[in-house]
Amino acid sequence: MQGESKGTRKTGNRGALKGSLKMPADKSIAHRSAMFAAISEPGMDIVIRNYSSAEDPHSTLSCLKKLGVPVNVEGDTVTITPVGRDGIINPKEELDCGNSGTTMRLMAGILAGAGTECILTGDESLSGRPMSRIINPLREMGAKISARDDKYAPLKIIRNSSGSLKPIHYKLPVASAQVKSCVLLAGLFADDPTTVEETVPSRDHTERMLGLPVEIRHDGARLITSSKKLKLNLDVHTVVPGDFSAAAFWLVAALINPGSSVKLENTGINPTRTGALGILQRMGATISVDPDKSGGKEPVATITVKSSKLKGTSLNQEEIPNAIDEIPVLAVAMAFAEGTSSIRGAEELRYKETDRIAAVASILKTAGADFKEFPDGIEIYGNPNFVPQPGVYQTWKDHRIAMSAAVMASRSKTGEESEVEFPECVGVSYPGFWEDFDKLS
Ligand code: S3P
Repeated sequence: MQGESKGTRKTGNRGALKGSLKMPADKSIAHRSAMFAAISEPGMDIVIRNYSSAEDPHSTLSCLKKLGVPVNVEGDTVTITPVGRDGIINPKEELDCGNSGTTMRLMAGILAGAGTECILTGDESLSGRPMSRIINPLREMGAKISARDDKYAPLKIIRNSSGSLKPIHYKLPVASAQVKSCVLLAGLFADDPTTVEETVPSRDHTERMLGLPVEIRHDGARLITSSKKLKLNLDVHTVVPGDFSAAAFWLVAALINPGSSVKLENTGINPTRTGALGILQRMGATISVDPDKSGGKEPVATITVKSSKLKGTSLNQEEIPNAIDEIPVLAVAMAFAEGTSSIRGAEELRYKETDRIAAVASILKTAGADFKEFPDGIEIYGNPNFVPQPGVYQTWKDHRIAMSAAVMASRSKTGEESEVEFPECVGVSYPGFWEDFDKLS
């Protein structure tokens, strides 16, 4: 997260939430559209509309500029002149990925593949996140990478004198779209096919947007392939859909506040992202999804949500990857549900922008909810009549924790204000979050 903290923000009960919002651009798709445009076959400029104004996707653009890629930003339209896989230059400066794990991990795949000499840095949070998960497969492919303590950023990519990388078959040890994408992107620079095998599907934007071949094996495993032979012709006009991960905050805020009815326009509904929809519907949520007929590689819909009586649920481990970023706010919903809810097998949450199991426990504790923390998740003993007590919510500058805390506080007693620390951190993914909250109130 960039910039200095402006302290805390007061927030509380806003009554029933009503109205409609246009969701901000999807962060995962924005990053990919810019990176993939940069390495596409040179020729035509690629115009990306509805590019995210959030900090993370802008970290990707600033890295691309330092790598010699012409990038022009006008409002939310980004025009990129592709330089192709051979056109990336050694940057004169370090590549600052800010708070963005997607920038660092996907960019590392491209840069290791291209043999670009560079240093990738990040903020304090990103510098503490595990990078062995990408260093190991990239080294297996022959890339030369050094890292702090051999596992943390800054990452230094050193020119690989032996030429292009070796293709590998890589079985993902963790369900991670960032690791999958990193290996597949490095594979775009190897002569023969690189295959990534995933047993639990993670978000599939990379394979969708690049048109990578995907085979489903008899045991259900997904095998995704990339290689130098694949022509990269990204659509000349790309429109980034709205972010389902942003929509999830309004889904829960509307569900827990009686009398609410909220419409979320232009929301991406890629099934590898919308696990939270099914979980909330299973909890009794009244949510309807009206798909947009316009088509495109990424499906989009208008989602309508009405406040609902919720009942507790247990997530099974297979559900976690497709709801990974929504789990903090799902935990908030669970505090207002009848009975016990359980989120287990979710240790990956400990390696996000902050330790999100500990951070969710902190939100629940501040609000006075009943829960138990486990090494791999949390159990929440919900109560439909739960009224959060006022308090100061810590956020560790994690955007999704700040937004989840605001949703929790929205159900507190009218007139009892809570405070959310580092409220500006929402800018990492959703700069208009607080304004949108005001619009619905
Ligand atoms: C992302 C993948 C997920 C997600 C992150 C964005 C992506 O991370 O949590 O916010 O754009 O590929 P992991 O791949 O580490 O699960």
